[in-house]
Amino acid sequence: MTYSRILGVGSFLPAKRVSNDDLAQIVETSDEWIFQRTGIKARHLAADDENTSDLAVKAARNALQQANTDPNEIDLIIVGTVTGDYAFPSTACLVQQKLGITNRCPAFDIQAACAGFMYAMTMADAYIRGGLCKKALIIGAETLSRIVNWQDRNTCVLFGDGAGAAVLGASDEPGILCSKMYADGEFASVLHMDGRMNNGDWTGAKFINMDGQAVFKFAVKALSEVAKETIEAANFPAEKIDWLVPHQANSRIIDATAKHLKLPPEKVILTVAEHANTSAASIPLALDYDIQSGKIQRGQHLLLEGIGGGFAWGAMLLRY
Ligand code: ACO
Repeated sequence: MTYSRILGVGSFLPAKRVSNDDLAQIVETSDEWIFQRTGIKARHLAADDENTSDLAVKAARNALQQANTDPNEIDLIIVGTVTGDYAFPSTACLVQQKLGITNRCPAFDIQAACAGFMYAMTMADAYIRGGLCKKALIIGAETLSRIVNWQDRNTCVLFGDGAGAAVLGASDEPGILCSKMYADGEFASVLHMDGRMNNGDWTGAKFINMDGQAVFKFAVKALSEVAKETIEAANFPAEKIDWLVPHQANSRIIDATAKHLKLPPEKVILTVAEHANTSAASIPLALDYDIQSGKIQRGQHLLLEGIGGGFAWGAMLLRY
């Protein structure tokens, strides 16, 4: 039986770090308010000349190095992002070119907001298990700072920029065990960006818009349900999960979900304090951070889960 296994993980955070106190100079807020409500202490923001593909390439190089993989061995590239450099070409095509990959492998973006990385992993897993590719480069990368309204304290305190990547390879050893992805467009207006193409012209504000309490309520229920469903479908004992690696949006959503799953806080990877919400980049950033710290070890079982605009959400159980 063919599985997809993570061969290497990498990430990249832009150099500019903005603390809650720094933000309090721009909007009426405080470190105390932000930290109590979200668990966030700081976020990293891309420089003016840094685009999503630049962050993606840096994360990808780290992942390729960890996977001991030459870029031209990659035969599929998928980037999860809502802040690609252009409407087209895709950020994945730009990444392919910047990495010097000349083998003409398929490269495309997917847009599932904060669930983008897991959607991309699920798709790559299907390609690998179906024999369509052998080594896939999966990236979540965002420059959300470009679509945040820096005058709106309801949203600007929540988001940050960054990128994370994983190299997935075909293997006889178990890797991805099960994934379940969902979407429900009935909730499209709860979390969205107003701006859109209208008869060929851009209209509306290019800013993230959100009903925070509605997101909170839906997120906890949906994530708890999909995580349970994934574990059950894999017929895997919940107590054998070594780490919950959740989308890093908000520590209160993460705590509530872990409680529903009866997972103790010691088994939860939490990086939101330093990264804030980096949308599609958040899960691979968190993964890389705690692989580097030595917490996450080879052979351990990880439960990934996340939700974003759409709503789009899902969970994935894998052996690292
Ligand atoms: N600093 C100080 N005060 C603020 C701030 C701020 N940054 N933002 C809002 N407030 C004020 C509001 O104006 C309001 O004031 P009022 O009572 O005078 O009207 C008060 O704080 C309470 O506002 P609420 O919106 O009710 O605050 P709440 O406790 O719901 O917390 C929050 C807001 C943190 C956004 C919460 O709803 C939440 O965590 N929601 C989840 C949203 C999320 O994680 N989104 C990320 C994208 S989706 C995803 O990735 C899953």
